[in-house]
Amino acid sequence: MPKTPDYFAGKTIIITGAASGIGRATALIFARERANVVCADINEKGARETAEAVNGKGSQALALEVDVTSRDAVREMTVRALSAFGRVHFLFHSAGAAIRRAKFLEIDDALMQKTFALNVNGTLYAMQAVLPHMLQNKQGVIVNMASMAHRRGGPGSSVHYAAAKGAVVSMTMGVAREYAMQGIRALSISPGPIKTPFQDAAGSSPELVKRFLDDIPMGRFGEPEEIGELVLFMCSDACPFMTADTVYVNGGGGWR
Ligand SMILES: NC(=O)c1ccc[n+]([C@@H]2O[C@H](COP(=O)([O-])OP(=O)(O)OC[C@H]3O[C@@H](n4cnc5c(N)ncnc54)[C@H](O)[C@@H]3O)[C@@H](O)[C@H]2O)c1
Repeated sequence: MPKTPDYFAGKTIIITGAASGIGRATALIFARERANVVCADINEKGARETAEAVNGKGSQALALEVDVTSRDAVREMTVRALSAFGRVHFLFHSAGAAIRRAKFLEIDDALMQKTFALNVNGTLYAMQAVLPHMLQNKQGVIVNMASMAHRRGGPGSSVHYAAAKGAVVSMTMGVAREYAMQGIRALSISPGPIKTPFQDAAGSSPELVKRFLDDIPMGRFGEPEEIGELVLFMCSDACPFMTADTVYVNGGGGWR
């Protein structure tokens, strides 16, 4: 079914990880659709720059410094979004990272805890913060960022990260199914490598980045906008029967 024209105009999305990469690209796509965009990130300057770019497209934005590993900070993010815009229709939880690369036997408690605090607890807190409000309105779409890594298992460099993203896929599915009769849809996206600062943040070696590239039949990394347009589709009224699953976006591969 076609998306209603102007479907997003005046509706509100919270985007975590909005200072950079996929989160920022998605913020600008929702701004194009005249949505209000709450730009949340631990990087306050980056969040403000994204918010300014959203304003530059004629949409309203709110920049918030938020550490998604803090339950209180995430709750406060939702309170501020509601006091600014009255309602929150969508959550795109993009904040996440591989923290650092490590072989399986080198994964220590600190790395495992940091990886789960960011990717798993962050997703839990964000969903728990917006859901009561969405349930009250009997409407809401949540899109979480998983990764192809959860299918590959992250051999040799990121079993910790792959496991965390596997938890994101499971939690999203559970929430979608628990609230399916109450107007809530929840989906996750599992991208292959996308051209953002993500690999730098993880300290990926040039050899590892080349290995990822060699494994993609299309011979290139994805663009962040190629994920952002999918988030827009998932949040729209074009796919009301779509919930629970993860969608792979990977140029045809990345399975090794
Ligand atoms: N780029 C890829 O190849 C790729 C592939 C699969 C999945 N992903 C996932 O996509 C999401 C977005 O990554 P990206 O590629 O845009 O990378 P990115 O590094 O450009 O963006 C990640 C953003 O998350 C923010 N962030 C980190 N820790 C935070 C915290 N504690 N609280 C709030 N914000 C925090 C960062 O400041 C940054 O702005 C992540 O969840 C990542 O795991 C990325």
